[in-house]
Amino acid sequence: MYRLYLFQILCIFSVHTIGLPEYIKKARCHINRPDIEKCMKENGNKIIPLVAEGIPELNLPTMNPLHVDFIQMINTPQLQVNISDIKVYGLNRMKIQDIKARFSKGVSKLFLTNENITVVGKYNAKGKVMILPVVGEGDFSVYLENGVYNETVLSKVVKRNGEDYVKRIDTF
Ligand SMILES: *[C@@H]1O[C@H](CO)[C@@H](O)[C@H](O)[C@H]1NC(C)=O
Ligand SMILES: *[C@@H]1O[C@H](CO)[C@@H](O)[C@H](O)[C@H]1NC(C)=O
Ligand SMILES: *[C@@H]1O[C@H](CO)[C@@H](O)[C@H](O)[C@H]1NC(C)=O
Repeated sequence: MYRLYLFQILCIFSVHTIGLPEYIKKARCHINRPDIEKCMKENGNKIIPLVAEGIPELNLPTMNPLHVDFIQMINTPQLQVNISDIKVYGLNRMKIQDIKARFSKGVSKLFLTNENITVVGKYNAKGKVMILPVVGEGDFSVYLENGVYNETVLSKVVKRNGEDYVKRIDTF
């Protein structure tokens, strides 16, 4: 979610141009720039820590940490695992390593890394793993070190006020 927002902020340029924070306006890269990938990478890395604090103008809550209420993580007849009260720390340290922008084809790729993401929350499990019964609940914490997060982003080019803009198409 976070990555897609970032991409959108960098290249959409939706109707709400007015009222966007100045640092986002400045981070935009013109679609016709020959060095658009470099521009998106550099500007993106600059604004990630700021975007992570949330953007009230876009109703984007803070992602530092990111809160998720509930995920039904495993839901099979054999095993059910729910997690809740999830907090993800470290998204503000996301780094864009590379961008392959193919706007005319509508498919772009983002190559991101993060040295240090921590996820904490509560879990609830019921079922069987192999033949062992699993029943329990409690706190969990997961530490993701040196993660690589490759993302494919679908987009289309739209015209607004006679100018070309890139608009993300939601993939989920
Ligand atoms: C990872 O992040 C946690 C929480 O912010 C911090 O306590 C820890 O020192 C960090 N570890 C590294 C290797 O940066
Ligand atoms: C997981 O959540 C679902 C949907 O709320 C619920 O029906 C199920 O009983 C929960 N399972 C466990 C193990 O808590
Ligand atoms: C992610 O993309 C980069 C650059 O294209 C590539 O070198 C790397 O192998 C990919 N990693 C994964 C886990 O897909």
